[in-house]
Amino acid sequence: MISQVPARLAILISGHGTNLQAFIDACARGELAAQIGIVISNNPEAAGLQRAESAGLATRAIDHRNFATREEFDQALVNELHAFSIDLVVLAGFMRILTPVLVEPFVGRLFNIHPSLLPKYPGMHTHQRALDAGDAEAGATVHFVTQELDGGPPVLQCRVPILNDDTAESLAARVSLKEHTLYPIAVRWYLQGRLQLTGEGATLDGHAIPANGIQYTADLR
Ligand code: GAR
Repeated sequence: MISQVPARLAILISGHGTNLQAFIDACARGELAAQIGIVISNNPEAAGLQRAESAGLATRAIDHRNFATREEFDQALVNELHAFSIDLVVLAGFMRILTPVLVEPFVGRLFNIHPSLLPKYPGMHTHQRALDAGDAEAGATVHFVTQELDGGPPVLQCRVPILNDDTAESLAARVSLKEHTLYPIAVRWYLQGRLQLTGEGATLDGHAIPANGIQYTADLR
């Protein structure tokens, strides 16, 4: 449940931050009733931190290598999220495994995007695995985060074709472009009070979302 309008998002990154940029742009266009309260990276060198600073956003680099345990790192994240009165946490290429220290306080308002057609290929190297398997399609899935790695209930999924001459890099680029449209839609649904995590799974407008997530089409509203 969002307690303030505009809602305050935290975006957690580790790398390029192209999904972060999609959220910066969506907020600037007035498509999300939200403001980005803080951008946090576990990687002080992440290019996405520059994007955030260029957009005038508050940033924090919290280097996981400075913490003895995953739990201590996650507690440092939670402390920042509370300090910035964050309603909703958006993992956008955040390459850390979360512990209950972070998941529990934000469950139901914690999202991730994963570059595969979940439940296929949780974990790493998703594009190479899709190529090795001879799949005809790849894609990305926005899902609620639970304690299971890349295993929380899917919300929204997009597909791209795999071409004969694709490499993991060319496929990643095709998927990435689609992610930028996909992820803000799911967050908008949440901010509109339409999307929820219930005991039975994810629901949109009170209806159960299919196990693979809603399939993206250009006319989704
Ligand atoms: C995105 O493709 C996202 O799906 C993936 O990292 C990339 C981040 O790109 N996330 C994961 O692999 C999480 N398991 P970005 O930094 O340009 O947004």
